[in-house]
Formats: sequence, structure tokens, C-alpha cells
Amino acid sequence: MEKNRFLPKLAVISGASSGFGEAIARSVASRWPECRLLLLARREDRLRKLAEEIGPLCSFEALDIRQRTAVETLPERHDFRELSIIVNNAGLAAGMDSFSHAQIDDWEAMIDTNLKGLLYLTRTLVPFLTENKSGHIVQIGSVAGRQVYPKGHVYNATKFGVRALNEGLRMDLLGSGIRVTSVDPGMAETEFSLVRFHGDEKQAKTVYRGMEPLRAQDVAEAVVWALDRPLHVNVQEIMLMPTDQASARDIWRGGP
Ligand SMILES: NC(=O)c1ccc[n+]([C@@H]2O[C@H](COP(=O)([O-])OP(=O)(O)OC[C@H]3O[C@@H](n4cnc5c(N)ncnc54)[C@H](OP(=O)(O)O)[C@@H]3O)[C@@H](O)[C@H]2O)c1
Repeated sequence: MEKNRFLPKLAVISGASSGFGEAIARSVASRWPECRLLLLARREDRLRKLAEEIGPLCSFEALDIRQRTAVETLPERHDFRELSIIVNNAGLAAGMDSFSHAQIDDWEAMIDTNLKGLLYLTRTLVPFLTENKSGHIVQIGSVAGRQVYPKGHVYNATKFGVRALNEGLRMDLLGSGIRVTSVDPGMAETEFSLVRFHGDEKQAKTVYRGMEPLRAQDVAEAVVWALDRPLHVNVQEIMLMPTDQASARDIWRGGP
């Protein structure tokens, strides 16, 4: 029985400076206190604070996942021989304008982070998992990767892309013992909307008006649940929605 349990030794979590990534880091550390963590994101002060809180097995590196060389050279700065978990969580939506008014800079930020950054990190780290013939890749997708909504165009395209990559990864890693899970949340109150609206707090707040969104901890619990299944079980996809949200476009706003 014990042989079939997942006992991770090193987890790499991208986007760990806020929201889901921060909650996932805390939850993984609490479920597997012996597991080393490497936290990645750009805001060093946030990562340092979280790493100090989690304890001595937690390290961090301030890194922009869009910078290919910085990602590719991670193995020169960290020992990944015991790598067990990759959580590809770093990502963003930028802007919510109709297609013809959207900023191309926003599109580039989303494509470079949500797709290319995720690819750089996965391609850099997967060989350590295949070498060990085990491990678990968790992709934070979105309901936006399953259902398109107005003004979501490029964000939707990146998350649909992540979904396609997950399917491809599962096929190409078949027989390697590596599991690939996608956790696809609906609306969750993190810094996500603040980032999407370029720091406009008022606009960000209106996103959750009259409804109860998911919390980061809800997503972290789903991630840990998927990781904690016996080794012969791969939870391929989890779609996690607020009770007040039926689909990307159907939201109940009758609450207080
Ligand atoms: N909140 C939602 O409603 C929702 C729903 C479905 C899916 N998602 C997805 O969930 C993931 C996490 O989002 P969240 O809601 O937790 O938002 P968040 O609070 O804004 O967190 C995003 C994280 O990604 C990191 N990040 C962004 N750009 C980066 C870059 N270039 N390099 C390295 N790290 C970068 C940020 O850190 P730094 O700024 O410090 O770099 C931050 O830690 C994203 O992929 C998002 O698309 C969110």
C-alpha cells in the first residue's frame, strides 16, 4: 500500500507570490512537511516572506517566466534530481476589451506568460521527472480554457492552448509513470482581476459583485487532492466552479 503512495521530495511552483500559487505552496508544505519547495515568481519580497513562513525546506528564485534563458538555466542554480511536482500556475489575463480595441501588448504578455513561459519551465524540468520515472505535473488552466466568453479572446486562446498541451503531454509521457492533471477554476478572488484591469481596484471589485467567488485555498485543496491519489490514479481534469457560477457566462449575482 505504502509503495503506491505519492511521497514527493521536491515541488516547483510557479506564480507563488500570490493567489493560487501561494495557497498551493502552503498546502503542499502542510500535507508533505518533508517535501522541499522551490517557489518562482517575479516579486522577490513576497517569495522571501512566504519561504520564511514555510520553513527551511522552502527556497525561492525571483524570475520572469517569459525570460527563456533565465528558465532554461534553472538547473545550473538548483538541484532538481529529486523533482516530484511541477505546478504551472504563473499566468494572467491582461485587459478585457473587444477584439478590435484590445492592446497587442496585453496579448503578448498573456501568450508569453501563459503559453511560452509554461512551455519553457515544463521543457526544462520534465527530463528530471522522466529520469526518475515518476512525478506529477499540475497545470492551472481555467474555465476560460473550455468556454469562450465575450472579450476573452486571447486569454481564452492561451488557456485552450494549455488544455491541448495537457492532452499532448499525457500522450507523450505515457509509460513514464508521470501524471498530468489540469485544475480549471472558475471565478476566484485573487490578484487576478486587479492585474487584468491594470491595477484598477474599483473595476476589479465589480467582477465579483453580488456573487461569492472561489478562494485561493479552494484551488489549493483540489491540487493537493489530485496529487495525493494513489500512484496508479491520474486525475486528468478538475473543473472547480463557485456555486454562483454555472458557466463562463452564467453568474448568479443575486447575493448581498
Ligand atoms: N483568479 C481567477 O479567477 C482564475 C480563474 C481561473 C484560472 N486562473 C489562473 O490561475 C493562475 C493563477 O492566478 P491567480 O488567480 O492566483 O492570480 P494572481 O494572484 O494574479 O497570481 C498570479 C501569479 O503569477 C505570477 N506571474 C505572473 N506573471 C509572471 C511572470 N512573467 N513570471 C513569473 N511569474 C509570473 C505572479 O507573480 P509576480 O507578479 O510576482 O511575478 C503571481 O504569483 C493563472 O494562470 C490564472 O490565469 C485564475
